[in-house]
Amino acid sequence: SQRTLVLLKPDAVRRGLIGEIVGRIESKADWRIAALELRTLDRPTLEQHYAEHEGRPFYEPLMEFMASGPSVVMLVEGERVIEGVRTLAGPTDPIAATPGSIRGDFGTIVRENLIHASDSEESAERETKIFFPGFA
Ligand code: GTP
Ligand code: MG
Repeated sequence: SQRTLVLLKPDAVRRGLIGEIVGRIESKADWRIAALELRTLDRPTLEQHYAEHEGRPFYEPLMEFMASGPSVVMLVEGERVIEGVRTLAGPTDPIAATPGSIRGDFGTIVRENLIHASDSEESAERETKIFFPGFA
């Protein structure tokens, strides 16, 4: 089975949506939370995580937002969990996201789109090392 790195971004935590979002993930058959922590992300961690976006116009505001308060950092394990959490999240732009998805139900602003989830096995492995370096 797969493992994926999930962040509940500072907007989700500020708005009291941890239970709602973790609940949706936890409710999926045979998925398990393997690690979960409330953590304010520092700049070096965010630079590693969002390296692919460095130089884009949204990069600096994104970094500032992501450091603006605590996030929930978690590892989720289970059957096709990488694609599965992306499906639960919905597309990047919350206005384009279908109601029923996390972004579609709770989001309006592209930057404040509530959740991050690894987009491939390679990303999951890379991001797991960034956020849980001790984790096998
Ligand atoms: P993540 O799961 O957070 O990686 O989102 P994603 O994979 O759906 O989007 P992507 O990796 O392309 O972008 C990372 C994050 O940068 C997004 O989740 C948004 O918060 C933000 N972002 C991406 N594109 C834009 C944009 O065009 N404008 C703004 N303001 N923010 C963007
Ligand atoms: Mg991404």
